[in-house]
Amino acid sequence: MSPATKLIIVIVGLLSIAYAVWYFLPWSMSHRENMMQSGSLNIPQFSAIALQGREIFNENCAKCHGENAIGTNQGPPLLHNIYNPGHHGDNSFLRATESGVRQHHWPFGDMPQQPQVDKDQVFSIVRYIRELQEANGIFYQRHQM
Ligand code: HEC
Repeated sequence: MSPATKLIIVIVGLLSIAYAVWYFLPWSMSHRENMMQSGSLNIPQFSAIALQGREIFNENCAKCHGENAIGTNQGPPLLHNIYNPGHHGDNSFLRATESGVRQHHWPFGDMPQQPQVDKDQVFSIVRYIRELQEANGIFYQRHQM
């Protein structure tokens, strides 16, 4: 085999490896999200309050936080362990809705305040999110910092 042929084989080999990494890395990062969208998400039997909350959530919050709270490209999933009740208590929902949220955990920008949603409606949204979280294994964990 001539040195030139060997060189070509090495280059082609390296390019294939680079391509494989480029192709599979994003795939594995979005894998969890795809899993949730493709049906391993548990939808519980919601309480009556949570059902009201779901409606209000879908009208006011889902365009950023996603249907079933799994997130979109405009906002984070609330079905996520960092929003377990020990880290983000029920009042953080009220604060977020009344005053908005400055970007701090995610790269989506600030959350604008949602003054059209009143306090009782926020607490029904909280019931909805908590029941959805519990059905998917997200429980209270004491926040340590
Ligand atoms: C325009 C998009 C948008 C809408 C609409 C929206 N949010 Fe958000 N929300 C965000 C973003 C973005 C963040 C994450 C900010 C960060 O931590 O970087 C966020 C964060 C939150 C948090 C976490 C607050 C904290 O203390 O970290 C809660 C709770 C929340 N949203 C609830 C809601 C509820 C309830 C609604 C509907 C009434 C809603 N959001 C509507 C974009 C949105």
